[in-house]
Amino acid sequence: MILTVGGLSTTITSIARSQPSLGRLVVLLVAVLLASSSSSSSTATANAWPINTDQEHEALLLGGNKKIVFLAGPHNSAYYSVYKFVSKWSKAKEEGHVRTYALTNWRWGGNDIHKLITEPEEENEEIWEKLQSRFDEPDINGVIVGSAFFDQIGPSAKHDALSAMKKIIEKLGVSKEDVLVIEHYRTPRFDQFVSMWKHADGEYEESTYEDWLCDTHNKPDEQTKRLDMLGARTNPLGASLAYLNEGWEVKLLETTGMDSSDINIVQVVVTQILQGRTVNGLIASHEYVKNHDNEGERDFVEFNDTDIALAEELFRYRDCAYQPKLMPFTTEKTLDVLYNHSLFSTCDGSKTELYQRLMEHPQIMYSALLRQLKCPNHDVDFAGHTTIAQALGYEKMSEAEKKEAVQTTIQVSNKSTSSGSTSGAAGASKPPSATLILMQMVTAALFGYQVFKINLARPLRKPEPPASRRPSAEIEFEYEDPQLQEDYDVEGSEMVKLTASTGKGN
Ligand SMILES: *[C@@H]1O[C@H](CO)[C@@H](O)[C@H](O)[C@H]1NC(C)=O
Ligand SMILES: *[C@@H]1O[C@H](CO)[C@@H](O)[C@H](O)[C@H]1NC(C)=O
Ligand SMILES: *[C@@H]1O[C@H](CO)[C@@H](O)[C@H](O)[C@H]1NC(C)=O
Repeated sequence: MILTVGGLSTTITSIARSQPSLGRLVVLLVAVLLASSSSSSSTATANAWPINTDQEHEALLLGGNKKIVFLAGPHNSAYYSVYKFVSKWSKAKEEGHVRTYALTNWRWGGNDIHKLITEPEEENEEIWEKLQSRFDEPDINGVIVGSAFFDQIGPSAKHDALSAMKKIIEKLGVSKEDVLVIEHYRTPRFDQFVSMWKHADGEYEESTYEDWLCDTHNKPDEQTKRLDMLGARTNPLGASLAYLNEGWEVKLLETTGMDSSDINIVQVVVTQILQGRTVNGLIASHEYVKNHDNEGERDFVEFNDTDIALAEELFRYRDCAYQPKLMPFTTEKTLDVLYNHSLFSTCDGSKTELYQRLMEHPQIMYSALLRQLKCPNHDVDFAGHTTIAQALGYEKMSEAEKKEAVQTTIQVSNKSTSSGSTSGAAGASKPPSATLILMQMVTAALFGYQVFKINLARPLRKPEPPASRRPSAEIEFEYEDPQLQEDYDVEGSEMVKLTASTGKGN
């Protein structure tokens, strides 16, 4: 390049000597060419998906090719609020039925999309046909394809969402520039994990947080699910990175930012991103869509505020590993963070190694959360498990401990658990020796002191969560629609099957 420019400038100079005016013209031309080639990367960003914050607008046709919008969850992050609304109202306008006007330019891709992810070996013919026929309807922006299972990204996920998404895009013949993924970033971060416990069903329907986590220690199947929750379901940034690497656009919505602006996620998605019909900043004829606090039935008693702050930090650390990877996409404008409140706000470059470990090894998050609980009502062998203080870098770790911590299979002890199914074996396990108990007490005391110290020394480092809050169970929204009696055609299949802890593969 330098050589070329050097050669050019020599030529230019020689021309300039003989014919000054022509030389000036050539110099100008070269300058224009160079300028346009260097700015080509910025012109590529011009097609970023527009956000419409106008307080009043009709349902807009965005123009260009037909598009696919993925509502990608993740689980336990207000996905169902958006799903319920969008799946119900993305349909052709019916004259006189004003509620059908808002999303008349969009079509819903179907309710069983999750099967393309969870049952990829099936033909799923009906699902594909429905999707195609809705996409083919004339004069629309495109289809909206939703499933919380689009969070199934990366090595700890039980399913492969990315392949399903690529297949959808390929079958509909949409180019990557016309793909948008809407992803929720639930904060405080620990709340999303706690919500998975609060909505656990089946065996864990009535369980305490301790049962839900400590009990899994001896159950490889359940452990796999917890690792999926930690490595995939609560990892929207990892998923976002995967989408962005495919060349798709991502709108990442932080829940706390919307709360503080007193606007709910359904309104944001419909009026600003999908550009549905809007009056006074709200979805026209759907102003009733409001926030609805739905505290869960189960009490979270295991953790005090210090414990919650540490668990929060654990999830934040992992998120921070994605900062250097995601920020370039915000410059390119393919990643757009809406209602940002705290994303990357606590990241500290000197901790990169710790962040990286948590990103690469969700089993360290699992160990840390498990050990943090101490599991007093369960027989758990903590050997090989990282403490939360170690995971966060507040306690030293030996190289041997580091190695052991990243083993993919966490040691499963044969001791009986509270479920009692293997109680016959209980007699065989030796009671802990006095030395062991003493050692455990000393460790606990040291850990307590460490936590105490951390909190004294770093009072300003943890803006969240506020001192006296408890994780909220649920941030879904309710919308009773008193004027509309018509039953809507969502079979609810996804709603029933996708509950947090047992939804997959069961
Ligand atoms: C989000 O907001 C926080 C707090 O203002 C800020 O520190 C952080 O840099 C922002 N993140 C992004 C990605 O803009
Ligand atoms: C646990 O039980 C399995 C068989 O169920 C056995 O193979 C294994 O050696 C046992 N592990 C320990 C630590 O006793
Ligand atoms: C919170 O509980 C931990 C043990 O889980 C204890 O070490 C710590 O001192 C407690 N903190 C407060 C503020 O009560």
